[in-house]
Amino acid sequence: MKRIGIIGAAGYTGEELLKILSKHNGVQVAFATSERRGGVGVAQLFPHLPMYNDLKLCTADEALGRDVELVFTCLHAGESVKWAKKFLDRGVRVIDLGSDFRFKTPAAYDEWYNMRHPHPELLCDAVYGLTEWYRDDVREAKVVGNPGCYPTSVLLPLLPFLRAGLVADAPIIVDAKSGVSGAGKKPGETTHFVSVNENLSPYKVGRVHRHVGEMEKEMRAFGGGMNIVFSPHLTPLTRGMLSTIYFQLAGQKSRDELFAVVDDAYANEPFVHILRDRLPNMKMAQNSNFCFIGLVKPAGVNQVILFSAIDNLGKGASAQAVQNMNCMLGFEETKGLL
Ligand SMILES: NC(=O)c1ccc[n+]([C@@H]2O[C@H](COP(=O)([O-])OP(=O)(O)OC[C@H]3O[C@@H](n4cnc5c(N)ncnc54)[C@H](OP(=O)(O)O)[C@@H]3O)[C@@H](O)[C@H]2O)c1
Repeated sequence: MKRIGIIGAAGYTGEELLKILSKHNGVQVAFATSERRGGVGVAQLFPHLPMYNDLKLCTADEALGRDVELVFTCLHAGESVKWAKKFLDRGVRVIDLGSDFRFKTPAAYDEWYNMRHPHPELLCDAVYGLTEWYRDDVREAKVVGNPGCYPTSVLLPLLPFLRAGLVADAPIIVDAKSGVSGAGKKPGETTHFVSVNENLSPYKVGRVHRHVGEMEKEMRAFGGGMNIVFSPHLTPLTRGMLSTIYFQLAGQKSRDELFAVVDDAYANEPFVHILRDRLPNMKMAQNSNFCFIGLVKPAGVNQVILFSAIDNLGKGASAQAVQNMNCMLGFEETKGLL
């Protein structure tokens, strides 16, 4: 049994990690932290997780001395890295579900997060945890920046076409919908039940959402210099994410040739499924680590429309983090996830 810890276990992604890891027979959760709920039993806070009957939440400070191989940090921007640094200094490997290790340069982080990175010296060692594209690096990584939910849902369908040089040099339009848990546990005016229920709201439209920088950074790594125009929406759902991506095709390709590009990229991937005869929807991916991808080539225009469905808390956060943990600790990549 490998011992792991969770910093920020009382939030949505922390709770999801506890749930997934309770079914993973290769690891033991040695600590789970909460600043506000230190001393409370995990099973008391989350009655659907009675298997943690013996585990009490502790503060992150109390957790520091504990003997673990790997820690998940599930905190907001600027907070995760502070704890990650303390564990890395003790030789513990880290997977950050937040955004503190997704950029390679402090300048990019400062630009998109509008704050100075507290430990820029750690960025050069960080590996971007989009497992299907970086698994060799993830295996060896000391610290992994788990991708954002929107970037996961956009990059998985798009990267095969960028790598193949099939995306024309024109802005890529992304229209995406997320369940409300994507906004975290702290309620705000726009995430309040009354605002969200029976409603559908665009927010941070254009090129202002922080995930635009993360998506474009990865697009550049695969040869795409174009920009993203991004319209995220809040849907009246607890969890789930559906992204629709429009790009202009470079050259001429048939529908079958386009499918061959994604089929080739993901032929041996257990968590990425290409749908040929139907389009993805949110429910397909809920409570899973799957990404379902669909493709339409509309008649009369040299355009491609990609669709992808994931669970923002699954492949978009905690389940992908466990997939990365499996790579890092030498487990079967699907362990605890199928
Ligand atoms: N929600 C999603 O779908 C999703 C998807 C991908 C990535 N993410 C990212 O994952 C991270 C966590 O998201 P979340 O949705 O789980 O957030 P959340 O539900 O708001 O939970 C965050 C947790 O952080 C703890 N916390 C806050 N400040 C802290 C500090 N200074 N020291 C220690 N703990 C602190 C809080 O718990 P206590 O007060 O109990 O300690 C809270 O439980 C964020 O960076 C988010 O952007 C979220």
